[in-house]
Amino acid sequence: MQQPELKADEVVLVGAGNVGWHVGQRLKEKGIRVNLVYSRQKAKAEALGRLLGCAATNLLTAIPGLNNCLYILTVKDDVITEVAESIRFLDAPNRLFVHTSGATPSSVLTAYFSHSGVFYPLQTFSIDRQVNFSRVPLCIYGSDQEATSVLFDLGKQLSDQVAIIDDHQRSVLHVAAVFVNNFSNYLFGIGKDLVENKQLSFDLLRPLLMETAEKIMDRSPDEMQTGPARRHDQSTIATHLEYLERYPEWRKIYQLLSKNIEEKYA
Ligand SMILES: NC(=O)c1ccc[n+]([C@@H]2O[C@H](COP(=O)([O-])OP(=O)(O)OC[C@H]3O[C@@H](n4cnc5c(N)ncnc54)[C@H](OP(=O)(O)O)[C@@H]3O)[C@@H](O)[C@H]2O)c1
Repeated sequence: MQQPELKADEVVLVGAGNVGWHVGQRLKEKGIRVNLVYSRQKAKAEALGRLLGCAATNLLTAIPGLNNCLYILTVKDDVITEVAESIRFLDAPNRLFVHTSGATPSSVLTAYFSHSGVFYPLQTFSIDRQVNFSRVPLCIYGSDQEATSVLFDLGKQLSDQVAIIDDHQRSVLHVAAVFVNNFSNYLFGIGKDLVENKQLSFDLLRPLLMETAEKIMDRSPDEMQTGPARRHDQSTIATHLEYLERYPEWRKIYQLLSKNIEEKYA
């Protein structure tokens, strides 16, 4: 007997957080039907359901088994396995199950489903902020050739940049993403607190922050590094460290980063 062909004619979103909202809206924009949204909080599921014009539930057991359906788990990393286990009853040869986590291996789903994979959008998402989804790199991975092909085709409809990335590559990408996004954002926060503690506006630093990001769009960060540590200006570094004595944790960060930069450009 011929195996049913794997397709993603419609989507069920399991999770209505930041990623659920953005992926859901992009699917709708591209005319891909979202059948149902699940969230533990009924109001959240219903809010996204209204936006996407589909049903909503707060019960995992109420998620229907649909033919040719892609189930996208956009729940937080720590509960992907638990949620997958709870919906393993949905497994069928013409259904595909993916998570959207950069840090979670694909194997957490292969344990429960015939076809599974990862659909990791490499961008930072917040519900209340628009994102140009066509420019979001989609890192996809399928447990088998059919799953990979379905995810690749879907990815191409949603974004201009789709790449097949295996578990190890994705975990390294995720570490790198933490450096370029989460850590740099934390450093922006330190800058903001430092100026605001002296009644200065963070707006004074915003153009610098923008130029820092823009100039590495076509140059390498190595080429673009500036600052006292890059120039080995010891007296400036000493003055900064003295000022930071009132902020011991930030002082440690300043010292560590300066040491790394100095050693790199020795
Ligand atoms: N945000 C990003 O920038 C980003 C980017 C790329 C990939 N990702 C990945 O995408 C996934 C979702 O991230 P997110 O930012 O959308 O997270 P989020 O906004 O915090 O939403 C997480 C979702 O997980 C659900 N959840 C939490 N605990 C649960 C449980 N015990 N059982 C069932 N559902 C539970 C929440 O449901 P309730 O609403 O009911 O609490 C919510 O719908 C994660 O794997 C993350 O690593 C995130």
